[in-house]
Amino acid sequence: MQTINVALIGQGFMGRSHSNAWGQVAKFFKPPIKPVMHTVFGQPEENPKAFAQNWGWQNAATNWEELVKSPQIGLVDVVTPNYMHAPVARAAIEAGKPCACEKPIAGTLADARQMAEAAKAKGVKTFVWFNYRRCPAVGMAHRLVKDGMLGEIRHVRATYLQDWADNSVPLLWRFDKGLAGSGAHGDLNAHIIDMTRFVTGQEITEVVGAIAETFIKERKTVSGTAAGGIAAGMEGGARMGKVTVDDTVLFLARFSGGAVASFEAARQATGNQNRNTFEINGTKGAVKFDFERMNELEYYDATRPRAVQGWTTIMCTHGGDHPYVANWWPDAHIIGYEHGFTNQAYDILKVLAGEEPTFPIPDFNDAYQTQRVLEAALLSADERRPVRLADVK
Ligand SMILES: NC(=O)c1ccc[n+]([C@@H]2O[C@H](COP(=O)([O-])OP(=O)(O)OC[C@H]3O[C@@H](n4cnc5c(N)ncnc54)[C@H](O)[C@@H]3O)[C@@H](O)[C@H]2O)c1
Repeated sequence: MQTINVALIGQGFMGRSHSNAWGQVAKFFKPPIKPVMHTVFGQPEENPKAFAQNWGWQNAATNWEELVKSPQIGLVDVVTPNYMHAPVARAAIEAGKPCACEKPIAGTLADARQMAEAAKAKGVKTFVWFNYRRCPAVGMAHRLVKDGMLGEIRHVRATYLQDWADNSVPLLWRFDKGLAGSGAHGDLNAHIIDMTRFVTGQEITEVVGAIAETFIKERKTVSGTAAGGIAAGMEGGARMGKVTVDDTVLFLARFSGGAVASFEAARQATGNQNRNTFEINGTKGAVKFDFERMNELEYYDATRPRAVQGWTTIMCTHGGDHPYVANWWPDAHIIGYEHGFTNQAYDILKVLAGEEPTFPIPDFNDAYQTQRVLEAALLSADERRPVRLADVK
């Protein structure tokens, strides 16, 4: 069987979820190419050897430049803070290697554009881990819209709300514009922009207005490293440092098919830990998704007699009818967060073999389109004006 040697660049939260995906994918799926977990890169103080041993990587490295160039590596997978996506991805592309990169594709629009241009010029395959596209329920919503079951889309309402960033959380890279690009916006709005583009099959043409706010303007500088999640176990040091990104961004937008849309990303929305949701209303019906109940899709059929219209909860766990789940467990033996990454690893391997993925995977150019929307919303908030996407390059 054909194999491909993977290099994983980074070993934090996403380092763990991608390690799990590369380790599981050939056990649950039959990918046309089998991934070999060749080498993981981590910073020396993170003990990449121990990480490699725990997760099944054959080697550990502390120099990513050498690793990416190594002729032994066939696929580069980037899971570092956002400012490092561009240099690592460019090095992979330069070496003619396919590259999978975490979202947002980059910290800045210029980096995103250059990454997309470089990939196009070199003709290498690229992938961005917008993993929520790989939830069976989100895939189902995409299919329902594609099959015309919702009719013409009128409303798109998307929120991605978290509440981990109270003032006890220190100044992680996620609060530093130079390292992250933006705050909740690039972290969370990136996902719901991508998801709603995917489900509706339409592009955002205008950001009509936006609000960006930073509630906590200073945080304690970091001491120690996160023990797993976004900020789990992190402690603050004695000094204070400036937060240079947003805590929340809300914006209104228009889609190419005429729908109007609202987006909201927040890190201090108390009571919401990972509430990644959309509701899409069309002339013939509607769908609702909430990641905190990720196995379910709510569907409303507005073509039924009024007397029996109502929301239907579809448990998206029936292999054959619902995407990906035939490779996991029997009906209603539900799947979780990590499965989306394994589903995406499977689709990446299909694309590398020249096969069609289950659903389209965003490449660098596609993720650049999402980055243009992020940029338009920030411009709109900064300058308090509508921004047409045609003017954001
Ligand atoms: N797809 C998703 O749902 C999802 C979820 C979380 C994070 N992400 C993305 O994944 C990427 C990594 O996020 P994460 O949560 O794994 O971060 P993390 O802080 O947990 O890990 C980052 C890793 O990058 C490496 N690194 C290199 N230079 C670094 C530096 N200067 N500071 C800190 N770490 C450095 C380290 O190996 C570290 O382990 C980001 O682009 C983030 O937006 C995506």
